[in-house]
Amino acid sequence: MNLKSRHLLGISGMVPEEITLILDTAEAFAQIATREIKRVPTLRGKTVINFFVEPSTRTRSSFEVAEKRLSADSLNFTASASSLVKGETLLDTARNLEAMAPDFIVIRHSQPGAPHFLARHCRSAIVNAGDGAHEHPTQALLDAFTIRQHKQRLEGLKVAIVGDILHSRVARSNVLLLRTMGADVTLCAPPTLMPRDVDAFGARTTYYMDEAVAGADVVMMLRIQMERMQSGFFPSLREYAQLYGLDARRLGMAAKDAIVMHPGPINRGIEIMGDVADGAASVILEQVSNGVSVRMAVLYLLAGGGEDAA
Ligand code: CP
Repeated sequence: MNLKSRHLLGISGMVPEEITLILDTAEAFAQIATREIKRVPTLRGKTVINFFVEPSTRTRSSFEVAEKRLSADSLNFTASASSLVKGETLLDTARNLEAMAPDFIVIRHSQPGAPHFLARHCRSAIVNAGDGAHEHPTQALLDAFTIRQHKQRLEGLKVAIVGDILHSRVARSNVLLLRTMGADVTLCAPPTLMPRDVDAFGARTTYYMDEAVAGADVVMMLRIQMERMQSGFFPSLREYAQLYGLDARRLGMAAKDAIVMHPGPINRGIEIMGDVADGAASVILEQVSNGVSVRMAVLYLLAGGGEDAA
């Protein structure tokens, strides 16, 4: 079994066997983080360009660490340090990057579809590291990996995804993945932050957080994305925190062994209270650690690697 596409553009279109292959391969790569020498020669001689046109802490550094652990050569550049600020088009930038013969381009861009555009014009394998409010496939994969570590399965789990669904590529990729793997997903947001086409997501929806969290095995909180909001989507942050913030009382309504997730960066005291973010049920930092293994698996499989990794 191998991946059907030579790019990772989204979870959309992936079949359960491909998702399982990535998660199983990531298990093998997770062992490397426990070794004294955290490096294998798997991608020696391969070049990866990390092209981040939007800010990132976790995803960019996670890809860089993954590439270093696989012995690939990485080249990092951001929008502010590139000729995009001088008016160069995305296509011209991509063509110039291609002229350096990279094997992979990892791209984060504010424009939905930017990775798909590159995939049509570049020979390199393209990895979507987040395109606008569209998809963030490696985040959904690392979230699934983390859930599977704690629950040993995805099928049949009750997952509540709460917050700014409208602007969230994490929500979209997670719903696609979790539904493909047979989980039972509830989306919760104020009416103004629920996408108009939410029915197409195929998940249950509610405007009431208590309803979403009741009995959930996984509570996934999303960041309020102020930078994507031009007008007031809710009266005040204080009211939002009261109605949609995860505090100890609400967490108490979830399953006894529920885990709390958040893709980061978190707004403490708004969508998640500090004691919950740092509490025993929180797996937020595990998500970050697991991101490295999952991204190693993605690069390895896209490079043509088989099932016996690491
Ligand atoms: N989860 C996530 O995408 O975080 P960054 O924006 O820091 O990469």
